[in-house]
Order: sequence, then C-alpha cells, then structure tokens
Amino acid sequence: MSAEIEIESVLVENRVFPPFENLVKHANISGMDAYRALCDEADRDPEAFWARLGRENLVWAKPFTQALDESQAPFFHWYADGEMNVSANCLDRHLNTPVADKTAIIFESDDGKVEHVTYKQLHARVCEFANGIKALGYKAGQRAVIYMPMSIEAVVAMQACARLGIIHSVVFGGFSSKSLHERIVDVEAVLVITADEQVRGGKKIPLKPAVDEAIGFGGCESVSKVIVYRRTGTPVSWAEGRDLWMHEVCAGQAQTCEPVALSGEHPLFILYTSGSTGKPKGVQHSTAGYLLWSLMTMKWTFDAKDDDVYWCTADVGWVTGHTYITYGPLAAGLTQVVFEGVPTYPDAGRFWDMIQRHKVTVFYTAPTAIRSLIKLAESTPAVHPREYDLRSLRILGSVGEPINPEAWMWYYKQVGGERCPVLDTWWQTETGAHMITPLPGATPLKPGSCTLPLPGIAAAVVDETGEEVERGKGGFLVIKRPWPSMVRTIWGDPERFKKSYFPPELKGWYLAGDGAQRDSDGYFWIMGRIDDVLNVSGHRLGTMEVESVLVAHELVAEAAVVGRPDETTGEALVAFVVLKRPLPQGDEAVAIAKQLRDWVGKEIGPIAKPKDIRFGENLPKTRSGKIMRRLLRVVAKGEEITQDVSTLENPAILQQLSQSV
Ligand code: PRX
Repeated sequence: MSAEIEIESVLVENRVFPPFENLVKHANISGMDAYRALCDEADRDPEAFWARLGRENLVWAKPFTQALDESQAPFFHWYADGEMNVSANCLDRHLNTPVADKTAIIFESDDGKVEHVTYKQLHARVCEFANGIKALGYKAGQRAVIYMPMSIEAVVAMQACARLGIIHSVVFGGFSSKSLHERIVDVEAVLVITADEQVRGGKKIPLKPAVDEAIGFGGCESVSKVIVYRRTGTPVSWAEGRDLWMHEVCAGQAQTCEPVALSGEHPLFILYTSGSTGKPKGVQHSTAGYLLWSLMTMKWTFDAKDDDVYWCTADVGWVTGHTYITYGPLAAGLTQVVFEGVPTYPDAGRFWDMIQRHKVTVFYTAPTAIRSLIKLAESTPAVHPREYDLRSLRILGSVGEPINPEAWMWYYKQVGGERCPVLDTWWQTETGAHMITPLPGATPLKPGSCTLPLPGIAAAVVDETGEEVERGKGGFLVIKRPWPSMVRTIWGDPERFKKSYFPPELKGWYLAGDGAQRDSDGYFWIMGRIDDVLNVSGHRLGTMEVESVLVAHELVAEAAVVGRPDETTGEALVAFVVLKRPLPQGDEAVAIAKQLRDWVGKEIGPIAKPKDIRFGENLPKTRSGKIMRRLLRVVAKGEEITQDVSTLENPAILQQLSQSV
C-alpha cells in the first residue's frame, strides 16, 4: 500500500436528481427510510441480517446453522454448514412456478438472429450438458476452463459446472493463447470448454486454435478433454480422443440431472484479474454467499420485477458477466437479453435498436461504451438514441469505471429520456457484486458519484493508519465488515490474498485498492486506483503485467508503463521503452512500436496493447535506481513538469521521452 494517495481527478457535481415517484411507489426498497431501516438492521446485528437474507432468498438442500464463521479471518466463511446448489437456485427453483415457461434468455447473434429460451428449456439444456460431462467422469472440486463467445452455450457451460460442483474459470475470449495457457496451468484444469470461433462485428475470430496453441505450450497434462461448441462450422484441427463436440457430449443425455448439494463455501469459480504484480490473481468465489449477494443486488439495485426485460452488455469473461448475466438474473427469474456482438455493428445504433426491439426495461453497460456511442451519435444523426423508441426503459446502470458527469448526463437525457435513474454501481471482481450504488426508488442521484453503500456493506474512507478521513478529503476505500460475496482467497496463493486485501495497519478491514472521498452528504466519489492497476475501457490491467511482457521481447532492455486519461477509454496505456539497440528514428521507430504492440497483443490480448509507445535511451530514475513513475505520468499526459526533479539522476531523459513515435 503506498503511503501517498495520488488522485487523478474528481469532478464534484452539485446537481442532485431525486428519485422518480413512479419508481419509488413500486420499488423493492421504497424510499430512503426503507433503505435506512435495512442499514440499521444490518448494523445492529450483521450476522442476523445476513442469516435472514440467506434463509429467505436461497433454496437450501440442508439449512445452515451459522451464517458467518470468523475463526479463520481474513478467510471468512459464510453459510459453510448449509448445503445448496447454485444451478438449482437459478433454474430448478422456477420449475414449478409460472416462471418455468417464461423466456430466460433472448439471445441475439452478431448478425441479428434471435433465439428465445424458456427457463424450462434452459434447465433441460444445462442438465443434458451436465450429464454429458458427468459421463466423462468429471466431478465436484475439479476445474474447467471456459473460453467461449457470448452465447447461450456459455451460460449453459457455466451453469452445468455449477450443477456438478466443478469450479469454472472463464477466460475472456479476447485473451491470447498465452494468457489462456497461464490460467489452465494455474488452476490445473481437467477440462477446457471452447468454441470453434467467435463472431464479433462481422468478423470471425478463432478460439479453438488458441486452445490448441495454449495446450501445445506444455504443462497442461491435467487437461483430458476439450469440448467444442460449433458456432460457425469453420473446420478446426482435431485431437482424436481429446476433442469432443459439445452437441455430441449432450446427445442422448437425460434432460434432468440431480444438482449436487454443496457446502455454502464450495468454490463456485475462479476469475483472474490484474493486480499490482506481473501475475494476475485468481479470485476465488464461493457458492452460497456469492449467489445470495448476486440475487439481492438484482432485487435491490435493479429493482427486479417479473415483467422486466433486463440487459447487461458485459461479456461472461468478466465478473460483470458472471454476476449479472449467468447467475443473478437467472436466480431472480428475469427475462434477459444476451448479445453476441459489439455496440457499433452493423452501426452505432445497435444498442438502441435492440432496446427498442426487445423492449428492454433495465439496461446495464459501461461508461466506455457510452462515451464512444456519444461521439458516433453526435456525428451520425441516424444512430442517435432519439431516433429510437426507448420508452420501455425504466432503469439505467453503469459499471466498471468512473462515469464522468458529461457522459452521465447524456446517458440520462438521451437514452433515459430524463425518466430513468442512472445507477453508477461501484464494485470489483473481488467483491462479487455491487457494493456502493444508488437504489432506483430511494437514492437522490449526483452525476459522477456511486452514492451510498448497500445495506450491510460497511464502506469507509480512511488514511494509512486506519483513521476515517474528514468529509471532502481523499483516502483509501475500505470495507470494515465481511460480506457474503467477498473474495475467499487467491487461488493457490493465500499469502498474497492476505497481503493484497488485509494489510495489518488497517485492522483487518478489506482494502479495495481504490482512492475515494465522501462529500458532506456522505456520498462516495471514487477517485481511481491507488496501486499500479489501470482501467482501460473498464478492463483492469496491471502496469507490471504489461511491463514484464515488454521486457521479455528480444529488442527491449527496460520498460515502464503508466496510464494517461483518455476521452473514450477512461485511461490509456503509455509505454516508455529502452531498447537494446540505438534509439530508433522515423519509420523505424514506428515499425518497432508496431512490433511491440503486436507482441503485447499476442502475449496478453489486444486490450493490453499500449496506445502510445515512447523510446528513450534511459528511464527517469532516482540516484538509487528507482524509476520515477510519477514523472512518467506527467510526461505521458504531455504536461509541463513542475515537480522537483532534483533527485533525478538523468533529467535530460524527460525531453527525449516526451516525443511520441
Ligand atoms: O477502480 C475501480 C473500478 O474498477 C475496479 C474493479 O475492476 P474489476 O475488478 O475489473 O471489476 C469491474 C466490474 C465491477 C475498481 O477497483 N470501478 C468499478 N466500478 C466503478 C469503478 N470506478 C468508479 N466507479 C465505478 N462505478
């Protein structure tokens, strides 16, 4: 934890938008008094509060007797002596209710084909696949890596694993074979589930070849089968005895499959995310606590109602896709849209057109998508949201990165027609589900603020000694009490878990890794990461991760990567590189920069490619040899250096590094 809190910028807004009466009237949490009553209940006796929610909202095969076990803190255990199954809580619970024949998923492919699947049908498909993988001999506790496009099949694969207690680790389809390999090895996967290709924005992108390549790197002996969903039918190479088609695995299997009753603490999934070192962390989530908070936040934040058509545009490769596509909405029995493609294909009106056609009521997307659609809508009037009938919408959500007040206002006015609250939801891969967020029928909104913590979430802003800071001052965002959907450990590295999230100076509280401040109303304003983690288009990237890939390139001697604010992507990566050869100029510099960018794309994935690469003969260092990243951040922004550079060994280098290739 760095002692100094460097805060990029925060625009404190004065505008306040009270909740809409029509929403307040019917909301699951109606009005601030109802919100406060729940907060008070949780504060009075947190364990009793969580026990009540667990009993009332989940279906148990064996009831728990203890909600929280703190005896091994910070390894908190929730509902550990109860038994349940996540897939049964998402599907089977609806079978004898009117929800059974309701559409669970409206799937829309990249090229606009639409498929509806009811809860009953989804249950049957999950059971068939679960039976298929069970027949191959896989069982609870083993790990499966899922590397699939946005599809009904991806949801089926995740749900089938959950049904059998197989721990899944989904790898985003945009990650490279190298990243995939690293994750297969780290979780010692026995099974990989993939597709021949994925289709996005009219382009086919291979997936199966990346799996073959990943396994080919070696060290993946644990993998005994690769199951392939046939998406496009393009021929793929086939390892006889290892590779199986998903439809063949399902063929002839029964459409019912007994869900395995698992301890509330059974690991549900491992999802990798970037931290402050070079190696991504395998964030491990549990069964009962995770699902409980996924479901409660559907009910509270999104005010889930039977007749909602809900759409979260995230990919299942990220935590948002896990919680707010695969698990939360199904547990809540909602109809949801699942979309294969991108917001700009065939044109930048795609989101608005889909909202109109499917009569979406709750829409959840990322600020980066909004910002890029603003630009396109302003330049091409035909794809402006006003050209579409968006009156079905009642709630808008934002996730993954700060939403600037301008983008908030545009979303509010142009998409929501000034009728829908914009919910700026703050949370993380590690928190499992929403933590600080407005409630649509209660919280007055301020553009740019994620407002107030959910009931039961003890969020605070403290200094490095753990003292709460004054209102209006920046500090570390911490959570002072455990909550059910919190990260359980880092897969295979419990020491890193303790070190990353529970530093001793903070009295056993969870350190989120974000800077924040509270205003005079107690509202939270997130001010960006306090560690070496960047947020590019809502994707978390560790600067060290990109640096270690750059220095592994044969031409590179040294590299430092920093973030720079970016109008569209929030932050952009700027890499400062020292080559093992003389400083390149002109076309040669351009060619080497491209080579390095492609290398990063191949090693991590296209999302990690630096936007800007600068070459220098050295990096700015202190006399003791430490790279002065603070100065690099200033240089990356193209700003004048006003800081003291007297400790710098080689001040002339700054001039060289200020030149873009
Ligand atoms: O810095 C915060 C930012 O995204 C980080 C979490 O990233 P990840 O684990 O990938 O999860 C993304 C989906 C929840 C946080 O530490 N972040 C997330 N939501 C917000 C945010 N920053 C500002 N406002 C938000 N609403």
